[in-house]
Amino acid sequence: QFPLPIPPVKAPKMTITNPVTGNPIDYYEIYINEFTTNVYPNKGDAVLVGYDGMSPGPTFLMQKGRESVVRFVNNATMDNSVHLHGSYSRAPWDGWAEDVTAHGEFKDYFYPNSQAGRFLWYHDHAIDHTAENAYFGQAGGYILHDPAEDSLGLPSGYGQFDIPLILSAKQYNNDGTLFSPAGETTSLYGDVIHVNGQPWPYFNVQPRKYRLRFLNAAVSRTFFLYFQRATGSTAKIPFQVIASDAGLLSGPANTSDLYISMAERYEVVFDFAPFAGQNITLRSTHDVGADIDYLHTDKVMRFVVGSTPVTDPSTVPAVLGHPNFPPTISNPVPNHHFDFERTNGEWKINGVGFNEVANRVLANVPRGTIEIWELQNTGGGWSHPIHVHLVDFRVLSRTNDDNRVVYNYESQGLKDVVWLAPGETVKIEAHYAPWDGVYMFHCHNLIHEDHEMMAAFNVTALLD
Ligand code: C2O
Ligand code: CU
Repeated sequence: QFPLPIPPVKAPKMTITNPVTGNPIDYYEIYINEFTTNVYPNKGDAVLVGYDGMSPGPTFLMQKGRESVVRFVNNATMDNSVHLHGSYSRAPWDGWAEDVTAHGEFKDYFYPNSQAGRFLWYHDHAIDHTAENAYFGQAGGYILHDPAEDSLGLPSGYGQFDIPLILSAKQYNNDGTLFSPAGETTSLYGDVIHVNGQPWPYFNVQPRKYRLRFLNAAVSRTFFLYFQRATGSTAKIPFQVIASDAGLLSGPANTSDLYISMAERYEVVFDFAPFAGQNITLRSTHDVGADIDYLHTDKVMRFVVGSTPVTDPSTVPAVLGHPNFPPTISNPVPNHHFDFERTNGEWKINGVGFNEVANRVLANVPRGTIEIWELQNTGGGWSHPIHVHLVDFRVLSRTNDDNRVVYNYESQGLKDVVWLAPGETVKIEAHYAPWDGVYMFHCHNLIHEDHEMMAAFNVTALLD
């Protein structure tokens, strides 16, 4: 077993000046290139393609109110497009799937960093090739710090007590190379669970509280996470969820297990103090949704808790954030209904695929309005985590046949992805702002996304 890698912090190259506002902008450069890694010491290397030659890519640590420009230079062979997932970027910098950068080219992306603090991630979004590109390494973390959050006294210090845990699930060929999702048309569940790029790692912790920032960056696998002692009682250990996709919850959500589907982020405070000198295993439950499991896909990683007592100055206040909820419409009649379906072997939204260019704008939403969308997974065999670009939304309701509800960690914050388990219907409410433009929404099973389960909505300008 190997230790948990912590992606290094990306440093800006210089500071430039916003020509309009005069404010400083931090300028970064990232190179997308090939590198090799050896997962099986007795087998060959796997060839990956990542940001600055690593996977996950380096972590951006941003301050709310400080704008950034990131130049992504494509030194790889495949075209790519970069989406900062969780940012209300203007449409030209949102990673539109057809806005690809070819080998030898670069594109500068402008990020406003003016939303509430949150854990975002940047990943490839290239038309028809997102699954391969993200799986072979083009994904990384982006933490937006917010002074209001930093003053709460939560466990802090990137890589010290504030730890990104980027989950993925992959499959290897006998020669040690990665099995590619390129030929898949339904899903790639993966039998090897990685955290920050390392299969089943361990992490040495002190007996105190840690902030664990989970991101599910897998192509097709949903996790149902829980913590358990490595020996002795098999009971699930309770913990607190403090944040989700759009940042802090209104208050800590107590739970002892957590669904996290593709592209979702949940931040957890786990207190290792009662477990000094013990090992804690992070596990995932078999048979989530319709996912396929393998021998070891119920294990994620291990925490090795030191035995020397430490003082822990961190706290989890009862009131965390004030998620800026749009007002709930009292009689929630959906403005739009979307069916996520498989018909004649193809993935569609309301019968339309993203390749049907003339039909793929499925909603026109006047800028500034609040809408309720009803999302329905009409097929029995697959999960569809649905991501709506630009907005943060509230999950209003969840309907299904297996007693899954809107969990406290979903309802106490705002989200940008919601998991639709097989057969499920979910209602979401969002404020379509602050910009107008054409944005994507899609299934975040990247194979479904590449096979046309993606559409667009047009936030239209207000007329004077
Ligand atoms: Cu995380 Cu449209 O993507
Ligand atoms: Cu899907």
